[in-house]
This record gives sequence, structure tokens and C-alpha cells, in this order.
Amino acid sequence: MNKKSIKDIPIKGKSIIMRVDFNVPLDKKTLAITDDTRIKAALPTIEYILKKSPKKLILMTHLGRPDGQIKEELRLGPVANRLQELLKTPVTKLNDCVGDNIKAAIASSKDQVVLLENLRFHSEEEENDVNFAKKLASMADIYVNDAFGTAHRAHASTEGIAHYIPSVSGLLLDKEIEYLGKSLETPQKPFAVILGGSKVSDKIGVIENLLDKTNTLVIGGGMAYTFLKAQGVPIGNSKLEKDKIDLAKETLEKAKEKNVSVVLPVDHLIVDNIDAPTRLETTNGQSIPDGMIAVDIGPKTIELFKKALKDAKTICWNGPLGIFENDKYAKGTKEIGDFITTTRAVTIIGGGDTASAVAKFGLEKKMTHISTGGGASLEYMEGKVLPGIAALNDKE
Ligand code: 3PG
Repeated sequence: MNKKSIKDIPIKGKSIIMRVDFNVPLDKKTLAITDDTRIKAALPTIEYILKKSPKKLILMTHLGRPDGQIKEELRLGPVANRLQELLKTPVTKLNDCVGDNIKAAIASSKDQVVLLENLRFHSEEEENDVNFAKKLASMADIYVNDAFGTAHRAHASTEGIAHYIPSVSGLLLDKEIEYLGKSLETPQKPFAVILGGSKVSDKIGVIENLLDKTNTLVIGGGMAYTFLKAQGVPIGNSKLEKDKIDLAKETLEKAKEKNVSVVLPVDHLIVDNIDAPTRLETTNGQSIPDGMIAVDIGPKTIELFKKALKDAKTICWNGPLGIFENDKYAKGTKEIGDFITTTRAVTIIGGGDTASAVAKFGLEKKMTHISTGGGASLEYMEGKVLPGIAALNDKE
């Protein structure tokens, strides 16, 4: 799937409408942006376009899930302000995203960059309504999709619009396709995949897609306990998806057939109560006593995981290895995060919680690629076609 990129087309004098994913977390009380990673991630494409002297650059995004209603707390004022600061260029923020008034406001705006209001204030956006998509398309000559985080949604601004005007990818989308798509499709070997997070069900699609390509599968986090249970190991009160035990068994068998080495925890950090522990201990072995809950991998596991990862040339990591949000339970995730930055491997980090963990430990600059997508990166790693990418023009 070779898609046309913004780098492949002339921009000078053209009006560009670009879908970005500025769905950033906001402080509930102050509405201040608590993490501006996604805004920063779109800057290279915005700056690239502005250098090529377009007529206008119209940016559009959703924020939150307002369900087709205007929600004052989800207006894009704070986003426009932050974008302006980062870009060091004035940005006109409009109060709606379609209609004659909006077209007139764009035409009369003295600023080259315009940010439309939250697309999801209109239910037609998520319905991928044809007329809504046409209205968006009618505002510009070229459509650019740089919203990787929303590329798994077939919405009017991510999919529908691409049917009406020339449509290309932005630089962020190109980068995500390069690392999450091409690098994982034909990885440099040995290829190791680290999976964590709480649920087997969230990651089973990724395992299935990568099992044919990977040499080593390292499993930690909450999902590891369903795999240990599948092998008959006592797991105390640790996270268990009972209905996924058979699936875990099957996965272990498939991995064996395909000669993939599966590395599971051999010891654990355990507590009697996650929020208010009166006991916090490390197990001697794999078994977890009754009543105790595993919250992180133990020291022997950390060493075992490092050994399994040290010679890899490609490492893909999706899902934390413990409850890293709590400093007491963060050691396993932090040490493995630190360690992979010391290997020679290309390191590809899935978005969402893993990206937050990498940021918490200050490792962002040391990783080769950190995806800006949560759900989108998971679906892409599962090998699914993302509608926001599929709709773009093919390279000639
Ligand atoms: C995300 O945060 O994963 C994307 O912005 C998509 O948001 P959504 O899950 O509300 O569609």
C-alpha cells in the first residue's frame, strides 16, 4: 500500500485542508492541556506546508467524544492557543467547521493557519455523512491526512473527504506507516516483541499477526497471568481472563510450532491490596500465593527479559509490564524500557499506555519511533487496513 504523500505534490498557492489528531488530554477543572505530544507530532507537517507558501492551511480535528452535541468544555480554544505557541505563528480559531460563514471567515482571515472547531460537534462527522464530507472538501484544493491516531475511524474527515479532492498523507502519517507498517512487516531479525498491559483480549490480534514474523515473544503485565494460568501456574488473585485461558494455551502451542521463543515472568512483585498494600513482596518463583496480586515483574524476570532482548535488531513494545503509574510498581517497565534503549535494535513503541510509560521515564528521545496512536496503532499492528490510510490516493 504505497500512498501519495504531501512530499509528492506541489503546494504553492493551494488551499490545504489537513486532518490532525489533536485529541489531547485536558485537565478536568482548568481545561489546560496535560500532554501536548500529539500537537507537537503534527508540527513537522504544518511547518513543511507553510514553507511551501500555500494559500491557506486549514486544520481540523476532533476532541473527546461530544456525540454530535456542542460541549463548551470540548471547544478547541486551548488547542489553538497551544498550537500558536509551539508554531510561533498566529492561528485563527473558528467557531464551527462547515458552512458559508466558515468559508467566508477562512477567506477573510489574515492568518495563514486556520483551525476549525471540533468536528464531532456535528454527528455527521462520525456517521461519515457524504454531504458533510463534501462540505469539508469544498473548502480546499488538497486534503492531507496526518491524523494517525484517528486513522482507524472511517469518519467524514478521515475517510469520506478523500473521495472528493486529491488526498495525500502528511509526514507524521508517513512515519507511522514506515515504522508500524513496513518495519514490522519486514523486520530486521532477530525480531523481539514485548507485550504487556492488562488484557490478553486487547493483544491477541497483534500476537496472531506477528507470530509469523517474530523470533521472541516477551509477555509481561496483567496479561501474563492468564498465560501462566494456562500453564497450570498458581496466580493467586492476579488479573485473570478466565475465558481466554484456552486461547492463551493455543497461542503458546502455535508459538512452539513456529519456533517462536515465548518468555513469561519467572518471579513477581506481589501485594495484598493494590491501592493500600500492607504486604509488598517478591516471590521466589513463578507461583503466586493465594490472596496475593502481582503488580510488576520481579528481579529475576527483569534479567531474563534483558537476556531475551539483548541481541534483537528490531524490538516492538506494546503494553506496560506492571502498574507503572504507581512508582512502587514501576521498576519492571522502567528497567526494560531503559534496557532496550541500550541495545542496537530499532525500537518501535505502540501508543497509548506504553507511550505514557516511555514519557514518564524520560526515554522518548532514545526510542526510534513512538506511535501517536492508541487504538490505531493496535489495529495497525494487528495487520488491519486502516480506513484513513486506505482512502488516500495511491502513488502513481
Ligand atoms: C484516540 O485518542 O485514540 C484517537 O484520537 C481516536 O479517538 P476516539 O477513540 O474517540 O475515536
